[in-house]
Amino acid sequence: MGKLDGQVAIVTGAARGLGRAYARRLAALGAKIVVSDLDLKSFEEFEAERNAMTGDSTVAEIEAGGGSAMGIELDVADPQAVEAMVAQVVREWGRVDILVANAGGGRGRPIDTKASTLDPALLQLVVGMNLYGTIYCCNAVAPIMKQQRYGKIVTVSSVAGISPSVDGGYAHYGTAKAAIAHYTRYLAQDLGPHGITANCIAPGTIATGRIMQSVIPGSSRANADPAARVALRRIGTVEDCARVVEFLTTDLSDYVTGTLIPIDGGLMR
Ligand SMILES: NC(=O)c1ccc[n+]([C@@H]2O[C@H](COP(=O)([O-])OP(=O)(O)OC[C@H]3O[C@@H](n4cnc5c(N)ncnc54)[C@H](O)[C@@H]3O)[C@@H](O)[C@H]2O)c1
Repeated sequence: MGKLDGQVAIVTGAARGLGRAYARRLAALGAKIVVSDLDLKSFEEFEAERNAMTGDSTVAEIEAGGGSAMGIELDVADPQAVEAMVAQVVREWGRVDILVANAGGGRGRPIDTKASTLDPALLQLVVGMNLYGTIYCCNAVAPIMKQQRYGKIVTVSSVAGISPSVDGGYAHYGTAKAAIAHYTRYLAQDLGPHGITANCIAPGTIATGRIMQSVIPGSSRANADPAARVALRRIGTVEDCARVVEFLTTDLSDYVTGTLIPIDGGLMR
């Protein structure tokens, strides 16, 4: 018996990276998984992500392990598409117990996205895919979770949403992620009386393909060892984060809500 047998979990941005790790972990605990992503083949963009795959999609990997998964392609920044996804899940699987609102990330390079020189289109894109996308997903699952009088929501901030970078780069992203953490505190107050928890995680430097191949090389500290500023002297793995998501989506965290949990190995930015 898995801890999450009979439950349904939606993980956004689950085609690669951290979202894929969350989806696989929750599937291993017995949940049926909705793998949602802008592009269910997004792992093809980065060599490290491509090489990590053991099937031709996260859905195929979960099914090969004996689990149940459905893939849905959508843009979380499109509220109608998000509503349609949740309606489809309820039609096909009858419930939604867990939402991991993971889709997001930065765009542009840290050295080109300083706080005083933000391009309006890039700002809109990054705030849309992170903050608005998170809110749309939470809004869409809330009525179902209220009916069930049960639900666990995990939103995704970043250490960039807790403190700024030393050079003021990636300001659009850090601002959106700070707002997600604060939105989650409101959400916890709103949904707590309905038996629903809402917590936020703030990953530090985690070794996904995007971070290793794009973000770190594009930062002003590109030549410095990223592990040197981490107390544990290593950058994080997707499993480091997946373990915390397991905590926040199982009964271990039943009396935990409205919190922000950094998963950063003791990073000093
Ligand atoms: N990797 C890190 O070090 C790190 C650190 C802090 C926070 N985070 C956050 O964790 C989450 C996952 O990070 P990652 O490194 O795995 O990113 P990633 O870019 O590797 O994966 C993100 C996935 O989300 C999908 N996606 C992007 N925009 C979308 C949209 N509008 N609608 C639906 N899907 C969309 C992408 O296609 C991709 O598959 C992000 O929210 C990111 O900001 C990551």
